Amino acid sequence: NWKLTSYIDTTVAAIKEKVGDQKVILGLSGGVDSSVAAVLIQKAIGDQLTCIFVDTGLLRKDEAKKVMENYGEHFNMNIKLVDAADRFLSKLAGVDDPEQKRKIIGNEFIAVFDEESHKIEGAKFLAQGTIYPDVIESQSVKGPSAVIKSHHNVGGLPEDMDFELLEPLRELFKDEVRKVGEELGIPHHLVYRHPFPGPGLGIRVLGAVDADKVRILQEADDIFIEELYKNDLYEKVSQAFVVLLPVKSVGVMGDERTYEYTAVVRSANTIDFMTATWSRLPYEFLDTVSSRIINEVRGINRVAYDISSKPPATIEWE
Ligand code: XMP
Repeated sequence: NWKLTSYIDTTVAAIKEKVGDQKVILGLSGGVDSSVAAVLIQKAIGDQLTCIFVDTGLLRKDEAKKVMENYGEHFNMNIKLVDAADRFLSKLAGVDDPEQKRKIIGNEFIAVFDEESHKIEGAKFLAQGTIYPDVIESQSVKGPSAVIKSHHNVGGLPEDMDFELLEPLRELFKDEVRKVGEELGIPHHLVYRHPFPGPGLGIRVLGAVDADKVRILQEADDIFIEELYKNDLYEKVSQAFVVLLPVKSVGVMGDERTYEYTAVVRSANTIDFMTATWSRLPYEFLDTVSSRIINEVRGINRVAYDISSKPPATIEWE
């Protein structure tokens, strides 16, 4: 694609010109925007780029491992993996208010990133995967959804850091970012991942978060996502995930009575994430997902499917 390659060539040249022989750091989240930005910048300046990947312990199953494989090994990217799970979990202990949880996770992320970025000597630029809609959103008067939930994005960092910003995707829409990503050789399934909220599983384990609940949720969520791919449904829905309710109910497994948590399967279809409908997933498919979760995940004995639209519900449960 001529337009894409010329966009990439021009941007790579501009990054080289701007950065010179200085060092750049980038907060890699594993999401589409930061990943495409990272690959693009690496193409321009190679090892002058260091990515920082913070494992909050609230990510999808094996996310850190996959990011290290996909970008560290495959793209030979320089990634500093920070295992901060214990820090996040101990700060979250006993906190059940959603906005409070968001605040704690956001602040802790900034603290960890700040510490790590200062360990990288002589870094002059901070790169971010800011895309055009982010630019517009931050300029506009905050809409009702921003008031309902503080949409803290883990990509967003404090402005008082002594870095110059490098935002090569600032003029692109999401579909353009994806095309650039594929042109740069990022595998299709990574470029077409669903969005994942900054606070991660911290707002999908309802109520107080602990390591055990996060692990249970990761297992269940992984099964749902795997089945969506297997059944060619992943790209037919906009966002899909599992929520763990802190509600136990009675079940029966073999001759045993069980008393375990409830998982809610959530899938939404939307254009702009401001309004959404629940995905009309096939019953047979839901049956497979439910059976697998109950049989394979210890700690869950009941699965419900969320049939709420937005509004009045939201896509996330917290
Ligand atoms: P809601 O639940 O408000 O979600 O219908 C709309 C979209 O926003 C995402 N979301 C968040 N993203 N930090 C984020 O970075 C947050 O605190 C947050 N809350 C919701 C949600 O996943 C969906 O894509």
